[in-house]
Order: sequence, then structure tokens, then C-alpha cells
Amino acid sequence: MTQTPKMAVGIDDIAVHVPKLFISTLDEFARARGIEPAKLARGIGVERMAVPDAHEDAATMAASSALELMQKNDLLPEEVGRIYIGTESGVDEAKAIGTYVIGMLERVYGPGSFQECSTVEFKSACIATTHALENVAYWLKAEEDENDFGGSDCGSCQSRGHVGIVIATDVARYELNSPGEYTQGAGSVALLVKRDPRLLALDPSVGIFTRDENDFFRPIGMKCAVVNGKYSNLCYLAAMDGAFYSYKKRALGRGMIRLDAGECTTDHLSHIIFHIPYPRMAEYAAASIFRREWKDLPRWQEVEEEIGPEPRAEEYEGQKEYLSAEGDYKRRFSKSSKFLEAYGKKVKPSTLISSSVGNIYTGSIYLGLASLLEQSLLAPGERVGLGSYGSGCSATFFSGTVQAGVESMPKGILLKKLDERVEISLEDYRLLHEGERPDSVIRPSGEFGLIEIDQDGYRRYDFVG
Ligand code: HMG
Repeated sequence: MTQTPKMAVGIDDIAVHVPKLFISTLDEFARARGIEPAKLARGIGVERMAVPDAHEDAATMAASSALELMQKNDLLPEEVGRIYIGTESGVDEAKAIGTYVIGMLERVYGPGSFQECSTVEFKSACIATTHALENVAYWLKAEEDENDFGGSDCGSCQSRGHVGIVIATDVARYELNSPGEYTQGAGSVALLVKRDPRLLALDPSVGIFTRDENDFFRPIGMKCAVVNGKYSNLCYLAAMDGAFYSYKKRALGRGMIRLDAGECTTDHLSHIIFHIPYPRMAEYAAASIFRREWKDLPRWQEVEEEIGPEPRAEEYEGQKEYLSAEGDYKRRFSKSSKFLEAYGKKVKPSTLISSSVGNIYTGSIYLGLASLLEQSLLAPGERVGLGSYGSGCSATFFSGTVQAGVESMPKGILLKKLDERVEISLEDYRLLHEGERPDSVIRPSGEFGLIEIDQDGYRRYDFVG
């Protein structure tokens, strides 16, 4: 049995901006890097990566997704009280990226139209947007209390600034020829956050895990991340596990989820969206959490019948032998029919868009939500778990309940848009990656573009119709 919160605040709609350019990882790229395409398609799970054109950066992508969100919801600027942005691809060390975004939106809606909207740039690697979302949700709840005073002009107060927009925007960039290179991507996701949302009402229980780590970071002035690749996978798994168990403790403790005999918490989550740096990582996270969840339940017997019992440290000569047996068991578990069934049903569908866009860092998890929406996989009343991870490192596990409004939301438009993108050559990709191509591969149209960076470093943007 599951409980839903009284006052619903959450995600009403999503708009995604992905660059029009992409590179296939399976053809020229794989040949040039001497990698078997099967490794990238199956071992990593990525077939295409989005590549930002010369006129694009984190600010233009954020403004484009925000504009799409506003236009499809007929939102007026004065209705938007907050534009909170999660990014680790900030374009300035001091000026908030949101001020550039508001500047761009005002080129469409008119000067000063957003002057009562506040904006903050959240940085916490890939988890930043989840913190932005949490903060906008708190703000909406606090506003509800303020409305309780019921002043004479209360009606017009309520219509001003009554929704928030949360934007994730990033360019995931690693060194050319590095193992990180095939986990790049770019894009922006804008979320409309409001009371009584159509899509997902956020649940009150949130699980947290934080620890100081050197898995992935980008010192000031560096264009590409410093990444300890395999170690970053381990940090992700440890943090996700920690956040999930923190969530479970709180959700069960407050009675938000109630377990019957033989059940576990993940049985009450119809879908689980894990942060998706590459689709295979979501599979590793699912394997780790399902295995721990199922171990004490009757169903574990079926797993053991198929792949045998778990290795126990005391059965091995040393730590090395035990770890090798444990690694082998992990692989067998992730191929077991029980796991494949749960993974295929609850987790894999959220990785669809990431496999053709790549890592968009702080927006990846919300691209996962868009994947479910696009495939019409969300049904009213279902509970969705979201596991957000940010290097450095921290994780948050939270959930939301799908709302009735989901039925009337349009589906499939983004998937169609992704099919219309243009594939570029390896040489154009290299030039764009290294910032050596000043002109755009495709002239911008119907989107925001970076026009120039002046001698002081101030960036000039415009809407190109
Ligand atoms: P790698 O060297 O490509 O790894 O690095 P690999 O050689 O172990 O291969 C990966 C998988 O491909 C393995 O699967 C291979 O067996 C398989 P597994 O053994 O684990 O099941 N494979 C094949 N499969 C089919 N056919 C074949 C074949 N050959 C091999 N022929 C790594 C991979 C992800 C480490 C690298 O790309 C990297 O460093 N990426 C960047 C860091 C990253 O994405 N880390 C993820 C966790 S941290 C995170 O998510 C945070 C982040 O989003 C940033 C933030 O928070 O801001 C990155």
C-alpha cells in the first residue's frame, strides 16, 4: 500500500532542447578510436552523442528549452517566480547563467518582463538540478503559506509568480581519445514546477548520501573534466546505494510505503530512473539495489536456483580471490532472468533518449523522465523513483506519484525531433570539440545563439528566428 502527499507540488511539464548535430558512435568514430561498435552499443549503451554547434552553449540551450516550455504552456513571464538552473558548464565564474537566460527570454517577451523572477545557478555536478527542483518545490509550499493571509489583492498576487521553472543544462566534455569521450553529450531540460502538477507530484521522503571524493571534477579554467573513470562508477554505486537506503528508511518510517510480507521497497516503485551518464550505468545501479533488496526475500531462492549462492569471504583464500568471485557473481546476477525482467520493466525504458543523446550531466535523470513520457509508459497513480547522482560526490533518492493529467500530455514529439538531427563528420566534431570552428555547421533558426564574446568577456546572445 502506498500513500500520497496532501498538498501536491511537482513537475507539470517538460521541454527538452538537444543540439541539432550528432555523431554516431558506431561508425567513423568507433573505427577511428579502434573500438568495437558492440562495446559502445552494448557495453556502454550509447549509439549517438549530441554535439553543440558553434553558436550553442549551456546558456543558449537553457533559454531554448525554457522558451519551448513557456510557449507550449502559454505561460506569461509574470507567472514565473523562479528560474533555478542546475549546471556544471557555467559560462561565467560570477554572473548567474540565469541572468543570461532571462536576457535571452526578454528578447522574445520584451525588456523587463522577468524582473520579478529570481534566478540562481546551482552547482553540484550532476545532482545540481535535483537540488534546484527541491528548492523550487519548497518555495511553492512557502508561497502557499503566504497566500493564507488573504489580503485584498490576493487574487492577483497568486497569479503573479505562481510557477517555477527548473532548468538543467550542460555540455559533457572529456578529452579526445580518452575513455570518457564516448560518454559525452549535450542538452537542456526545462521543468515546469507548480502546485497540482499534471505529471508528477513529489513525495515528501528524500534519501541523501554525501562524501568527499575525487572521482570527477573540473578545476577552474579547465574545459574538460578530470575523471577517474572506473573509480567514478564505484563512487556512483556507493552513493546511490546510500541514498536509496536513506530514502527507504524514511519512506517506510513515515508510512509513505507500507510493505506486505515478502515485499520490498522497489516493488512499490513502478519505474526507477537512475542518473544516466551512459545507459549501462543505470543497469549497474539497478543490479546493485535489486540484489540487496531481494536477498532476504523468498524470491532470492529463484535467483539462487539459477545462478547459485553468493560468494562468502570466508570461503576464499584471500581478499583478491573473494573480490574476483564477487565480480563474477555480480555479472551473473545482472544476466539472471529475475533481474532482467525487473530491469527491463522498471529501469531500462528510462535510458532510451540517453542512448541517442549521451550524457547531459545534470539533466540526464530528467531526460529519463522524458523517455518514459515519450513512450507513454507513465500511468496515473504509479510511483516513480528517481536516483540522482553528482560526482564529488552526493546522491539523492526521491520519488513522485504520476498524476491523472499525464493522460492528456502530448507524446512522441521529442523522439521525432531527435530523428531529424544532422550527423556530422568526425572532423567537424573535432573542430567543434576543440573550439576551432568559429562558424556554425547549421545556421541557427528558431533558437537562441551566441553572437559574440566582447573584449571584456561579456557574452552577447540573440534569438535567431
Ligand atoms: P571503459 O574503459 O570503456 O570501460 O570506461 P570498460 O572497458 O570496462 O568497458 C565498459 C563495458 O563494456 C564493460 O562491461 C565491458 O565488458 C564491455 P562490464 O564488464 O562492466 O559488464 N565491453 C563490451 N561489451 C560488448 N561488446 C564488446 C565489449 N568490449 C567491452 N566488444 C567509463 C568506461 C564509463 C569508465 C568511461 O567511459 C568514463 O570514464 N566515462 C566518464 C565517467 C563516467 O561517466 N562515470 C560514470 C559514473 S560517475 C557519474 O555518473 C557522474 C557524471 O555524470 C558527472 C557528474 O556527476 O557531474 C560523469
